Amino acid sequence: MNETKKVDETIQEVKQQVIEWRRYLHQNPELSYQEVKTSQFVYDTLQSFGHLELSRPTKTSVMARLVGGRPGKIIALRADLDALPIQEEINLPFASQNPGIMHACGHDGHTAMLLGVAKILTQLQDQLAGEVRFIFQHAEEMFPGGAKEMTGVGVLDGVDLVIGTHLWSPLEKGKVGVAYGPMMAASDTFWITVNGKGGHAGMPHQTIDSIVIAAQVVTNLQQIVSRTTDPLDSVVISVTQIIGGTAPNILPGSVELSGSVRNLDPSIRETIPGKIERIVKGITEAHEASYEFKYVYGYSPVINNHEVTAVIEETVREVFGEEALERLRPTMSAEDFSAFMEKAPGCFFFVGAGNEEKGITYPHHHARFTIDEEALEIGVKTFVHAALKFLA
Ligand code: NI
Repeated sequence: MNETKKVDETIQEVKQQVIEWRRYLHQNPELSYQEVKTSQFVYDTLQSFGHLELSRPTKTSVMARLVGGRPGKIIALRADLDALPIQEEINLPFASQNPGIMHACGHDGHTAMLLGVAKILTQLQDQLAGEVRFIFQHAEEMFPGGAKEMTGVGVLDGVDLVIGTHLWSPLEKGKVGVAYGPMMAASDTFWITVNGKGGHAGMPHQTIDSIVIAAQVVTNLQQIVSRTTDPLDSVVISVTQIIGGTAPNILPGSVELSGSVRNLDPSIRETIPGKIERIVKGITEAHEASYEFKYVYGYSPVINNHEVTAVIEETVREVFGEEALERLRPTMSAEDFSAFMEKAPGCFFFVGAGNEEKGITYPHHHARFTIDEEALEIGVKTFVHAALKFLA
């Protein structure tokens, strides 16, 4: 029997199990850093496959090593385990049993797929030249993120390359999306307080009006995007909170602003906090107010390595045909997969999981989010065939 045929048969055997694992995980969602039962389920399931060296790098994560029959590269494949604080509003036969918690981003599918990949590759152990590390990461959804914690305890030491995927509902089932270079954005957060002087709404000259000053800060911040950034680069500055005031006839003493900054280029990223503070300082000084400013760097951008991405792209073409391949523009959402990419070159790709005919159109993090389960097989196949390519 030729090798591809054997692989395909093994995938067919595991396919239904992957769906069942995903449904079990969907019914039992757990929040970031609290993936106790989820990680135990993953550990026990992996143990049942045999052949794997298992460990618990952190309290709620799992790593499995599969050492092949011959020496070769070390590759890491990653899935994330956590769910979100959302009350599910979609009627599934395997609905969430944990009130207020829901797998609304597809991480249940990621975990199930990687379990499937592990099962298939253990059966092909003798053919592998090198090692596969299966990384089941906790806390993708909550900063500072599980990826950084896991690389901090060395899960990627010695690894030559790392691959991860996201089931993606904006992309139709049947498509696999790749991007060369920047794929997902850096995501940082800022807080600004404008301190003026409160007083009577009818006598503004006796106050320092923090509302008018804060409003100027909000509109001026967009100058950073529109006037100081190269139009061919991408920066987003979104002020997402304005807090101030108690009544229509009182000018408040201070106003608090906070927001999100996104970009795809580390050299641009480092210039943003300075630009924001300069605007805040200038405007508050001009109007005799003072300010407080805090900026926190979040997840780094996901930047795909050329060679690794080329292999993923070739795999998609060979396994599913040219029409399955979708060249993506980067998205300004973020992923802590980037923390793994700081340790090894890698590729993060999207597996289409939307299906308009089936009404699967809700966005990620929505109470009615779901995936087309037929996408799971596509993710499994891409991982397995790519791993075999790297470890041929
Ligand atoms: Ni996600």
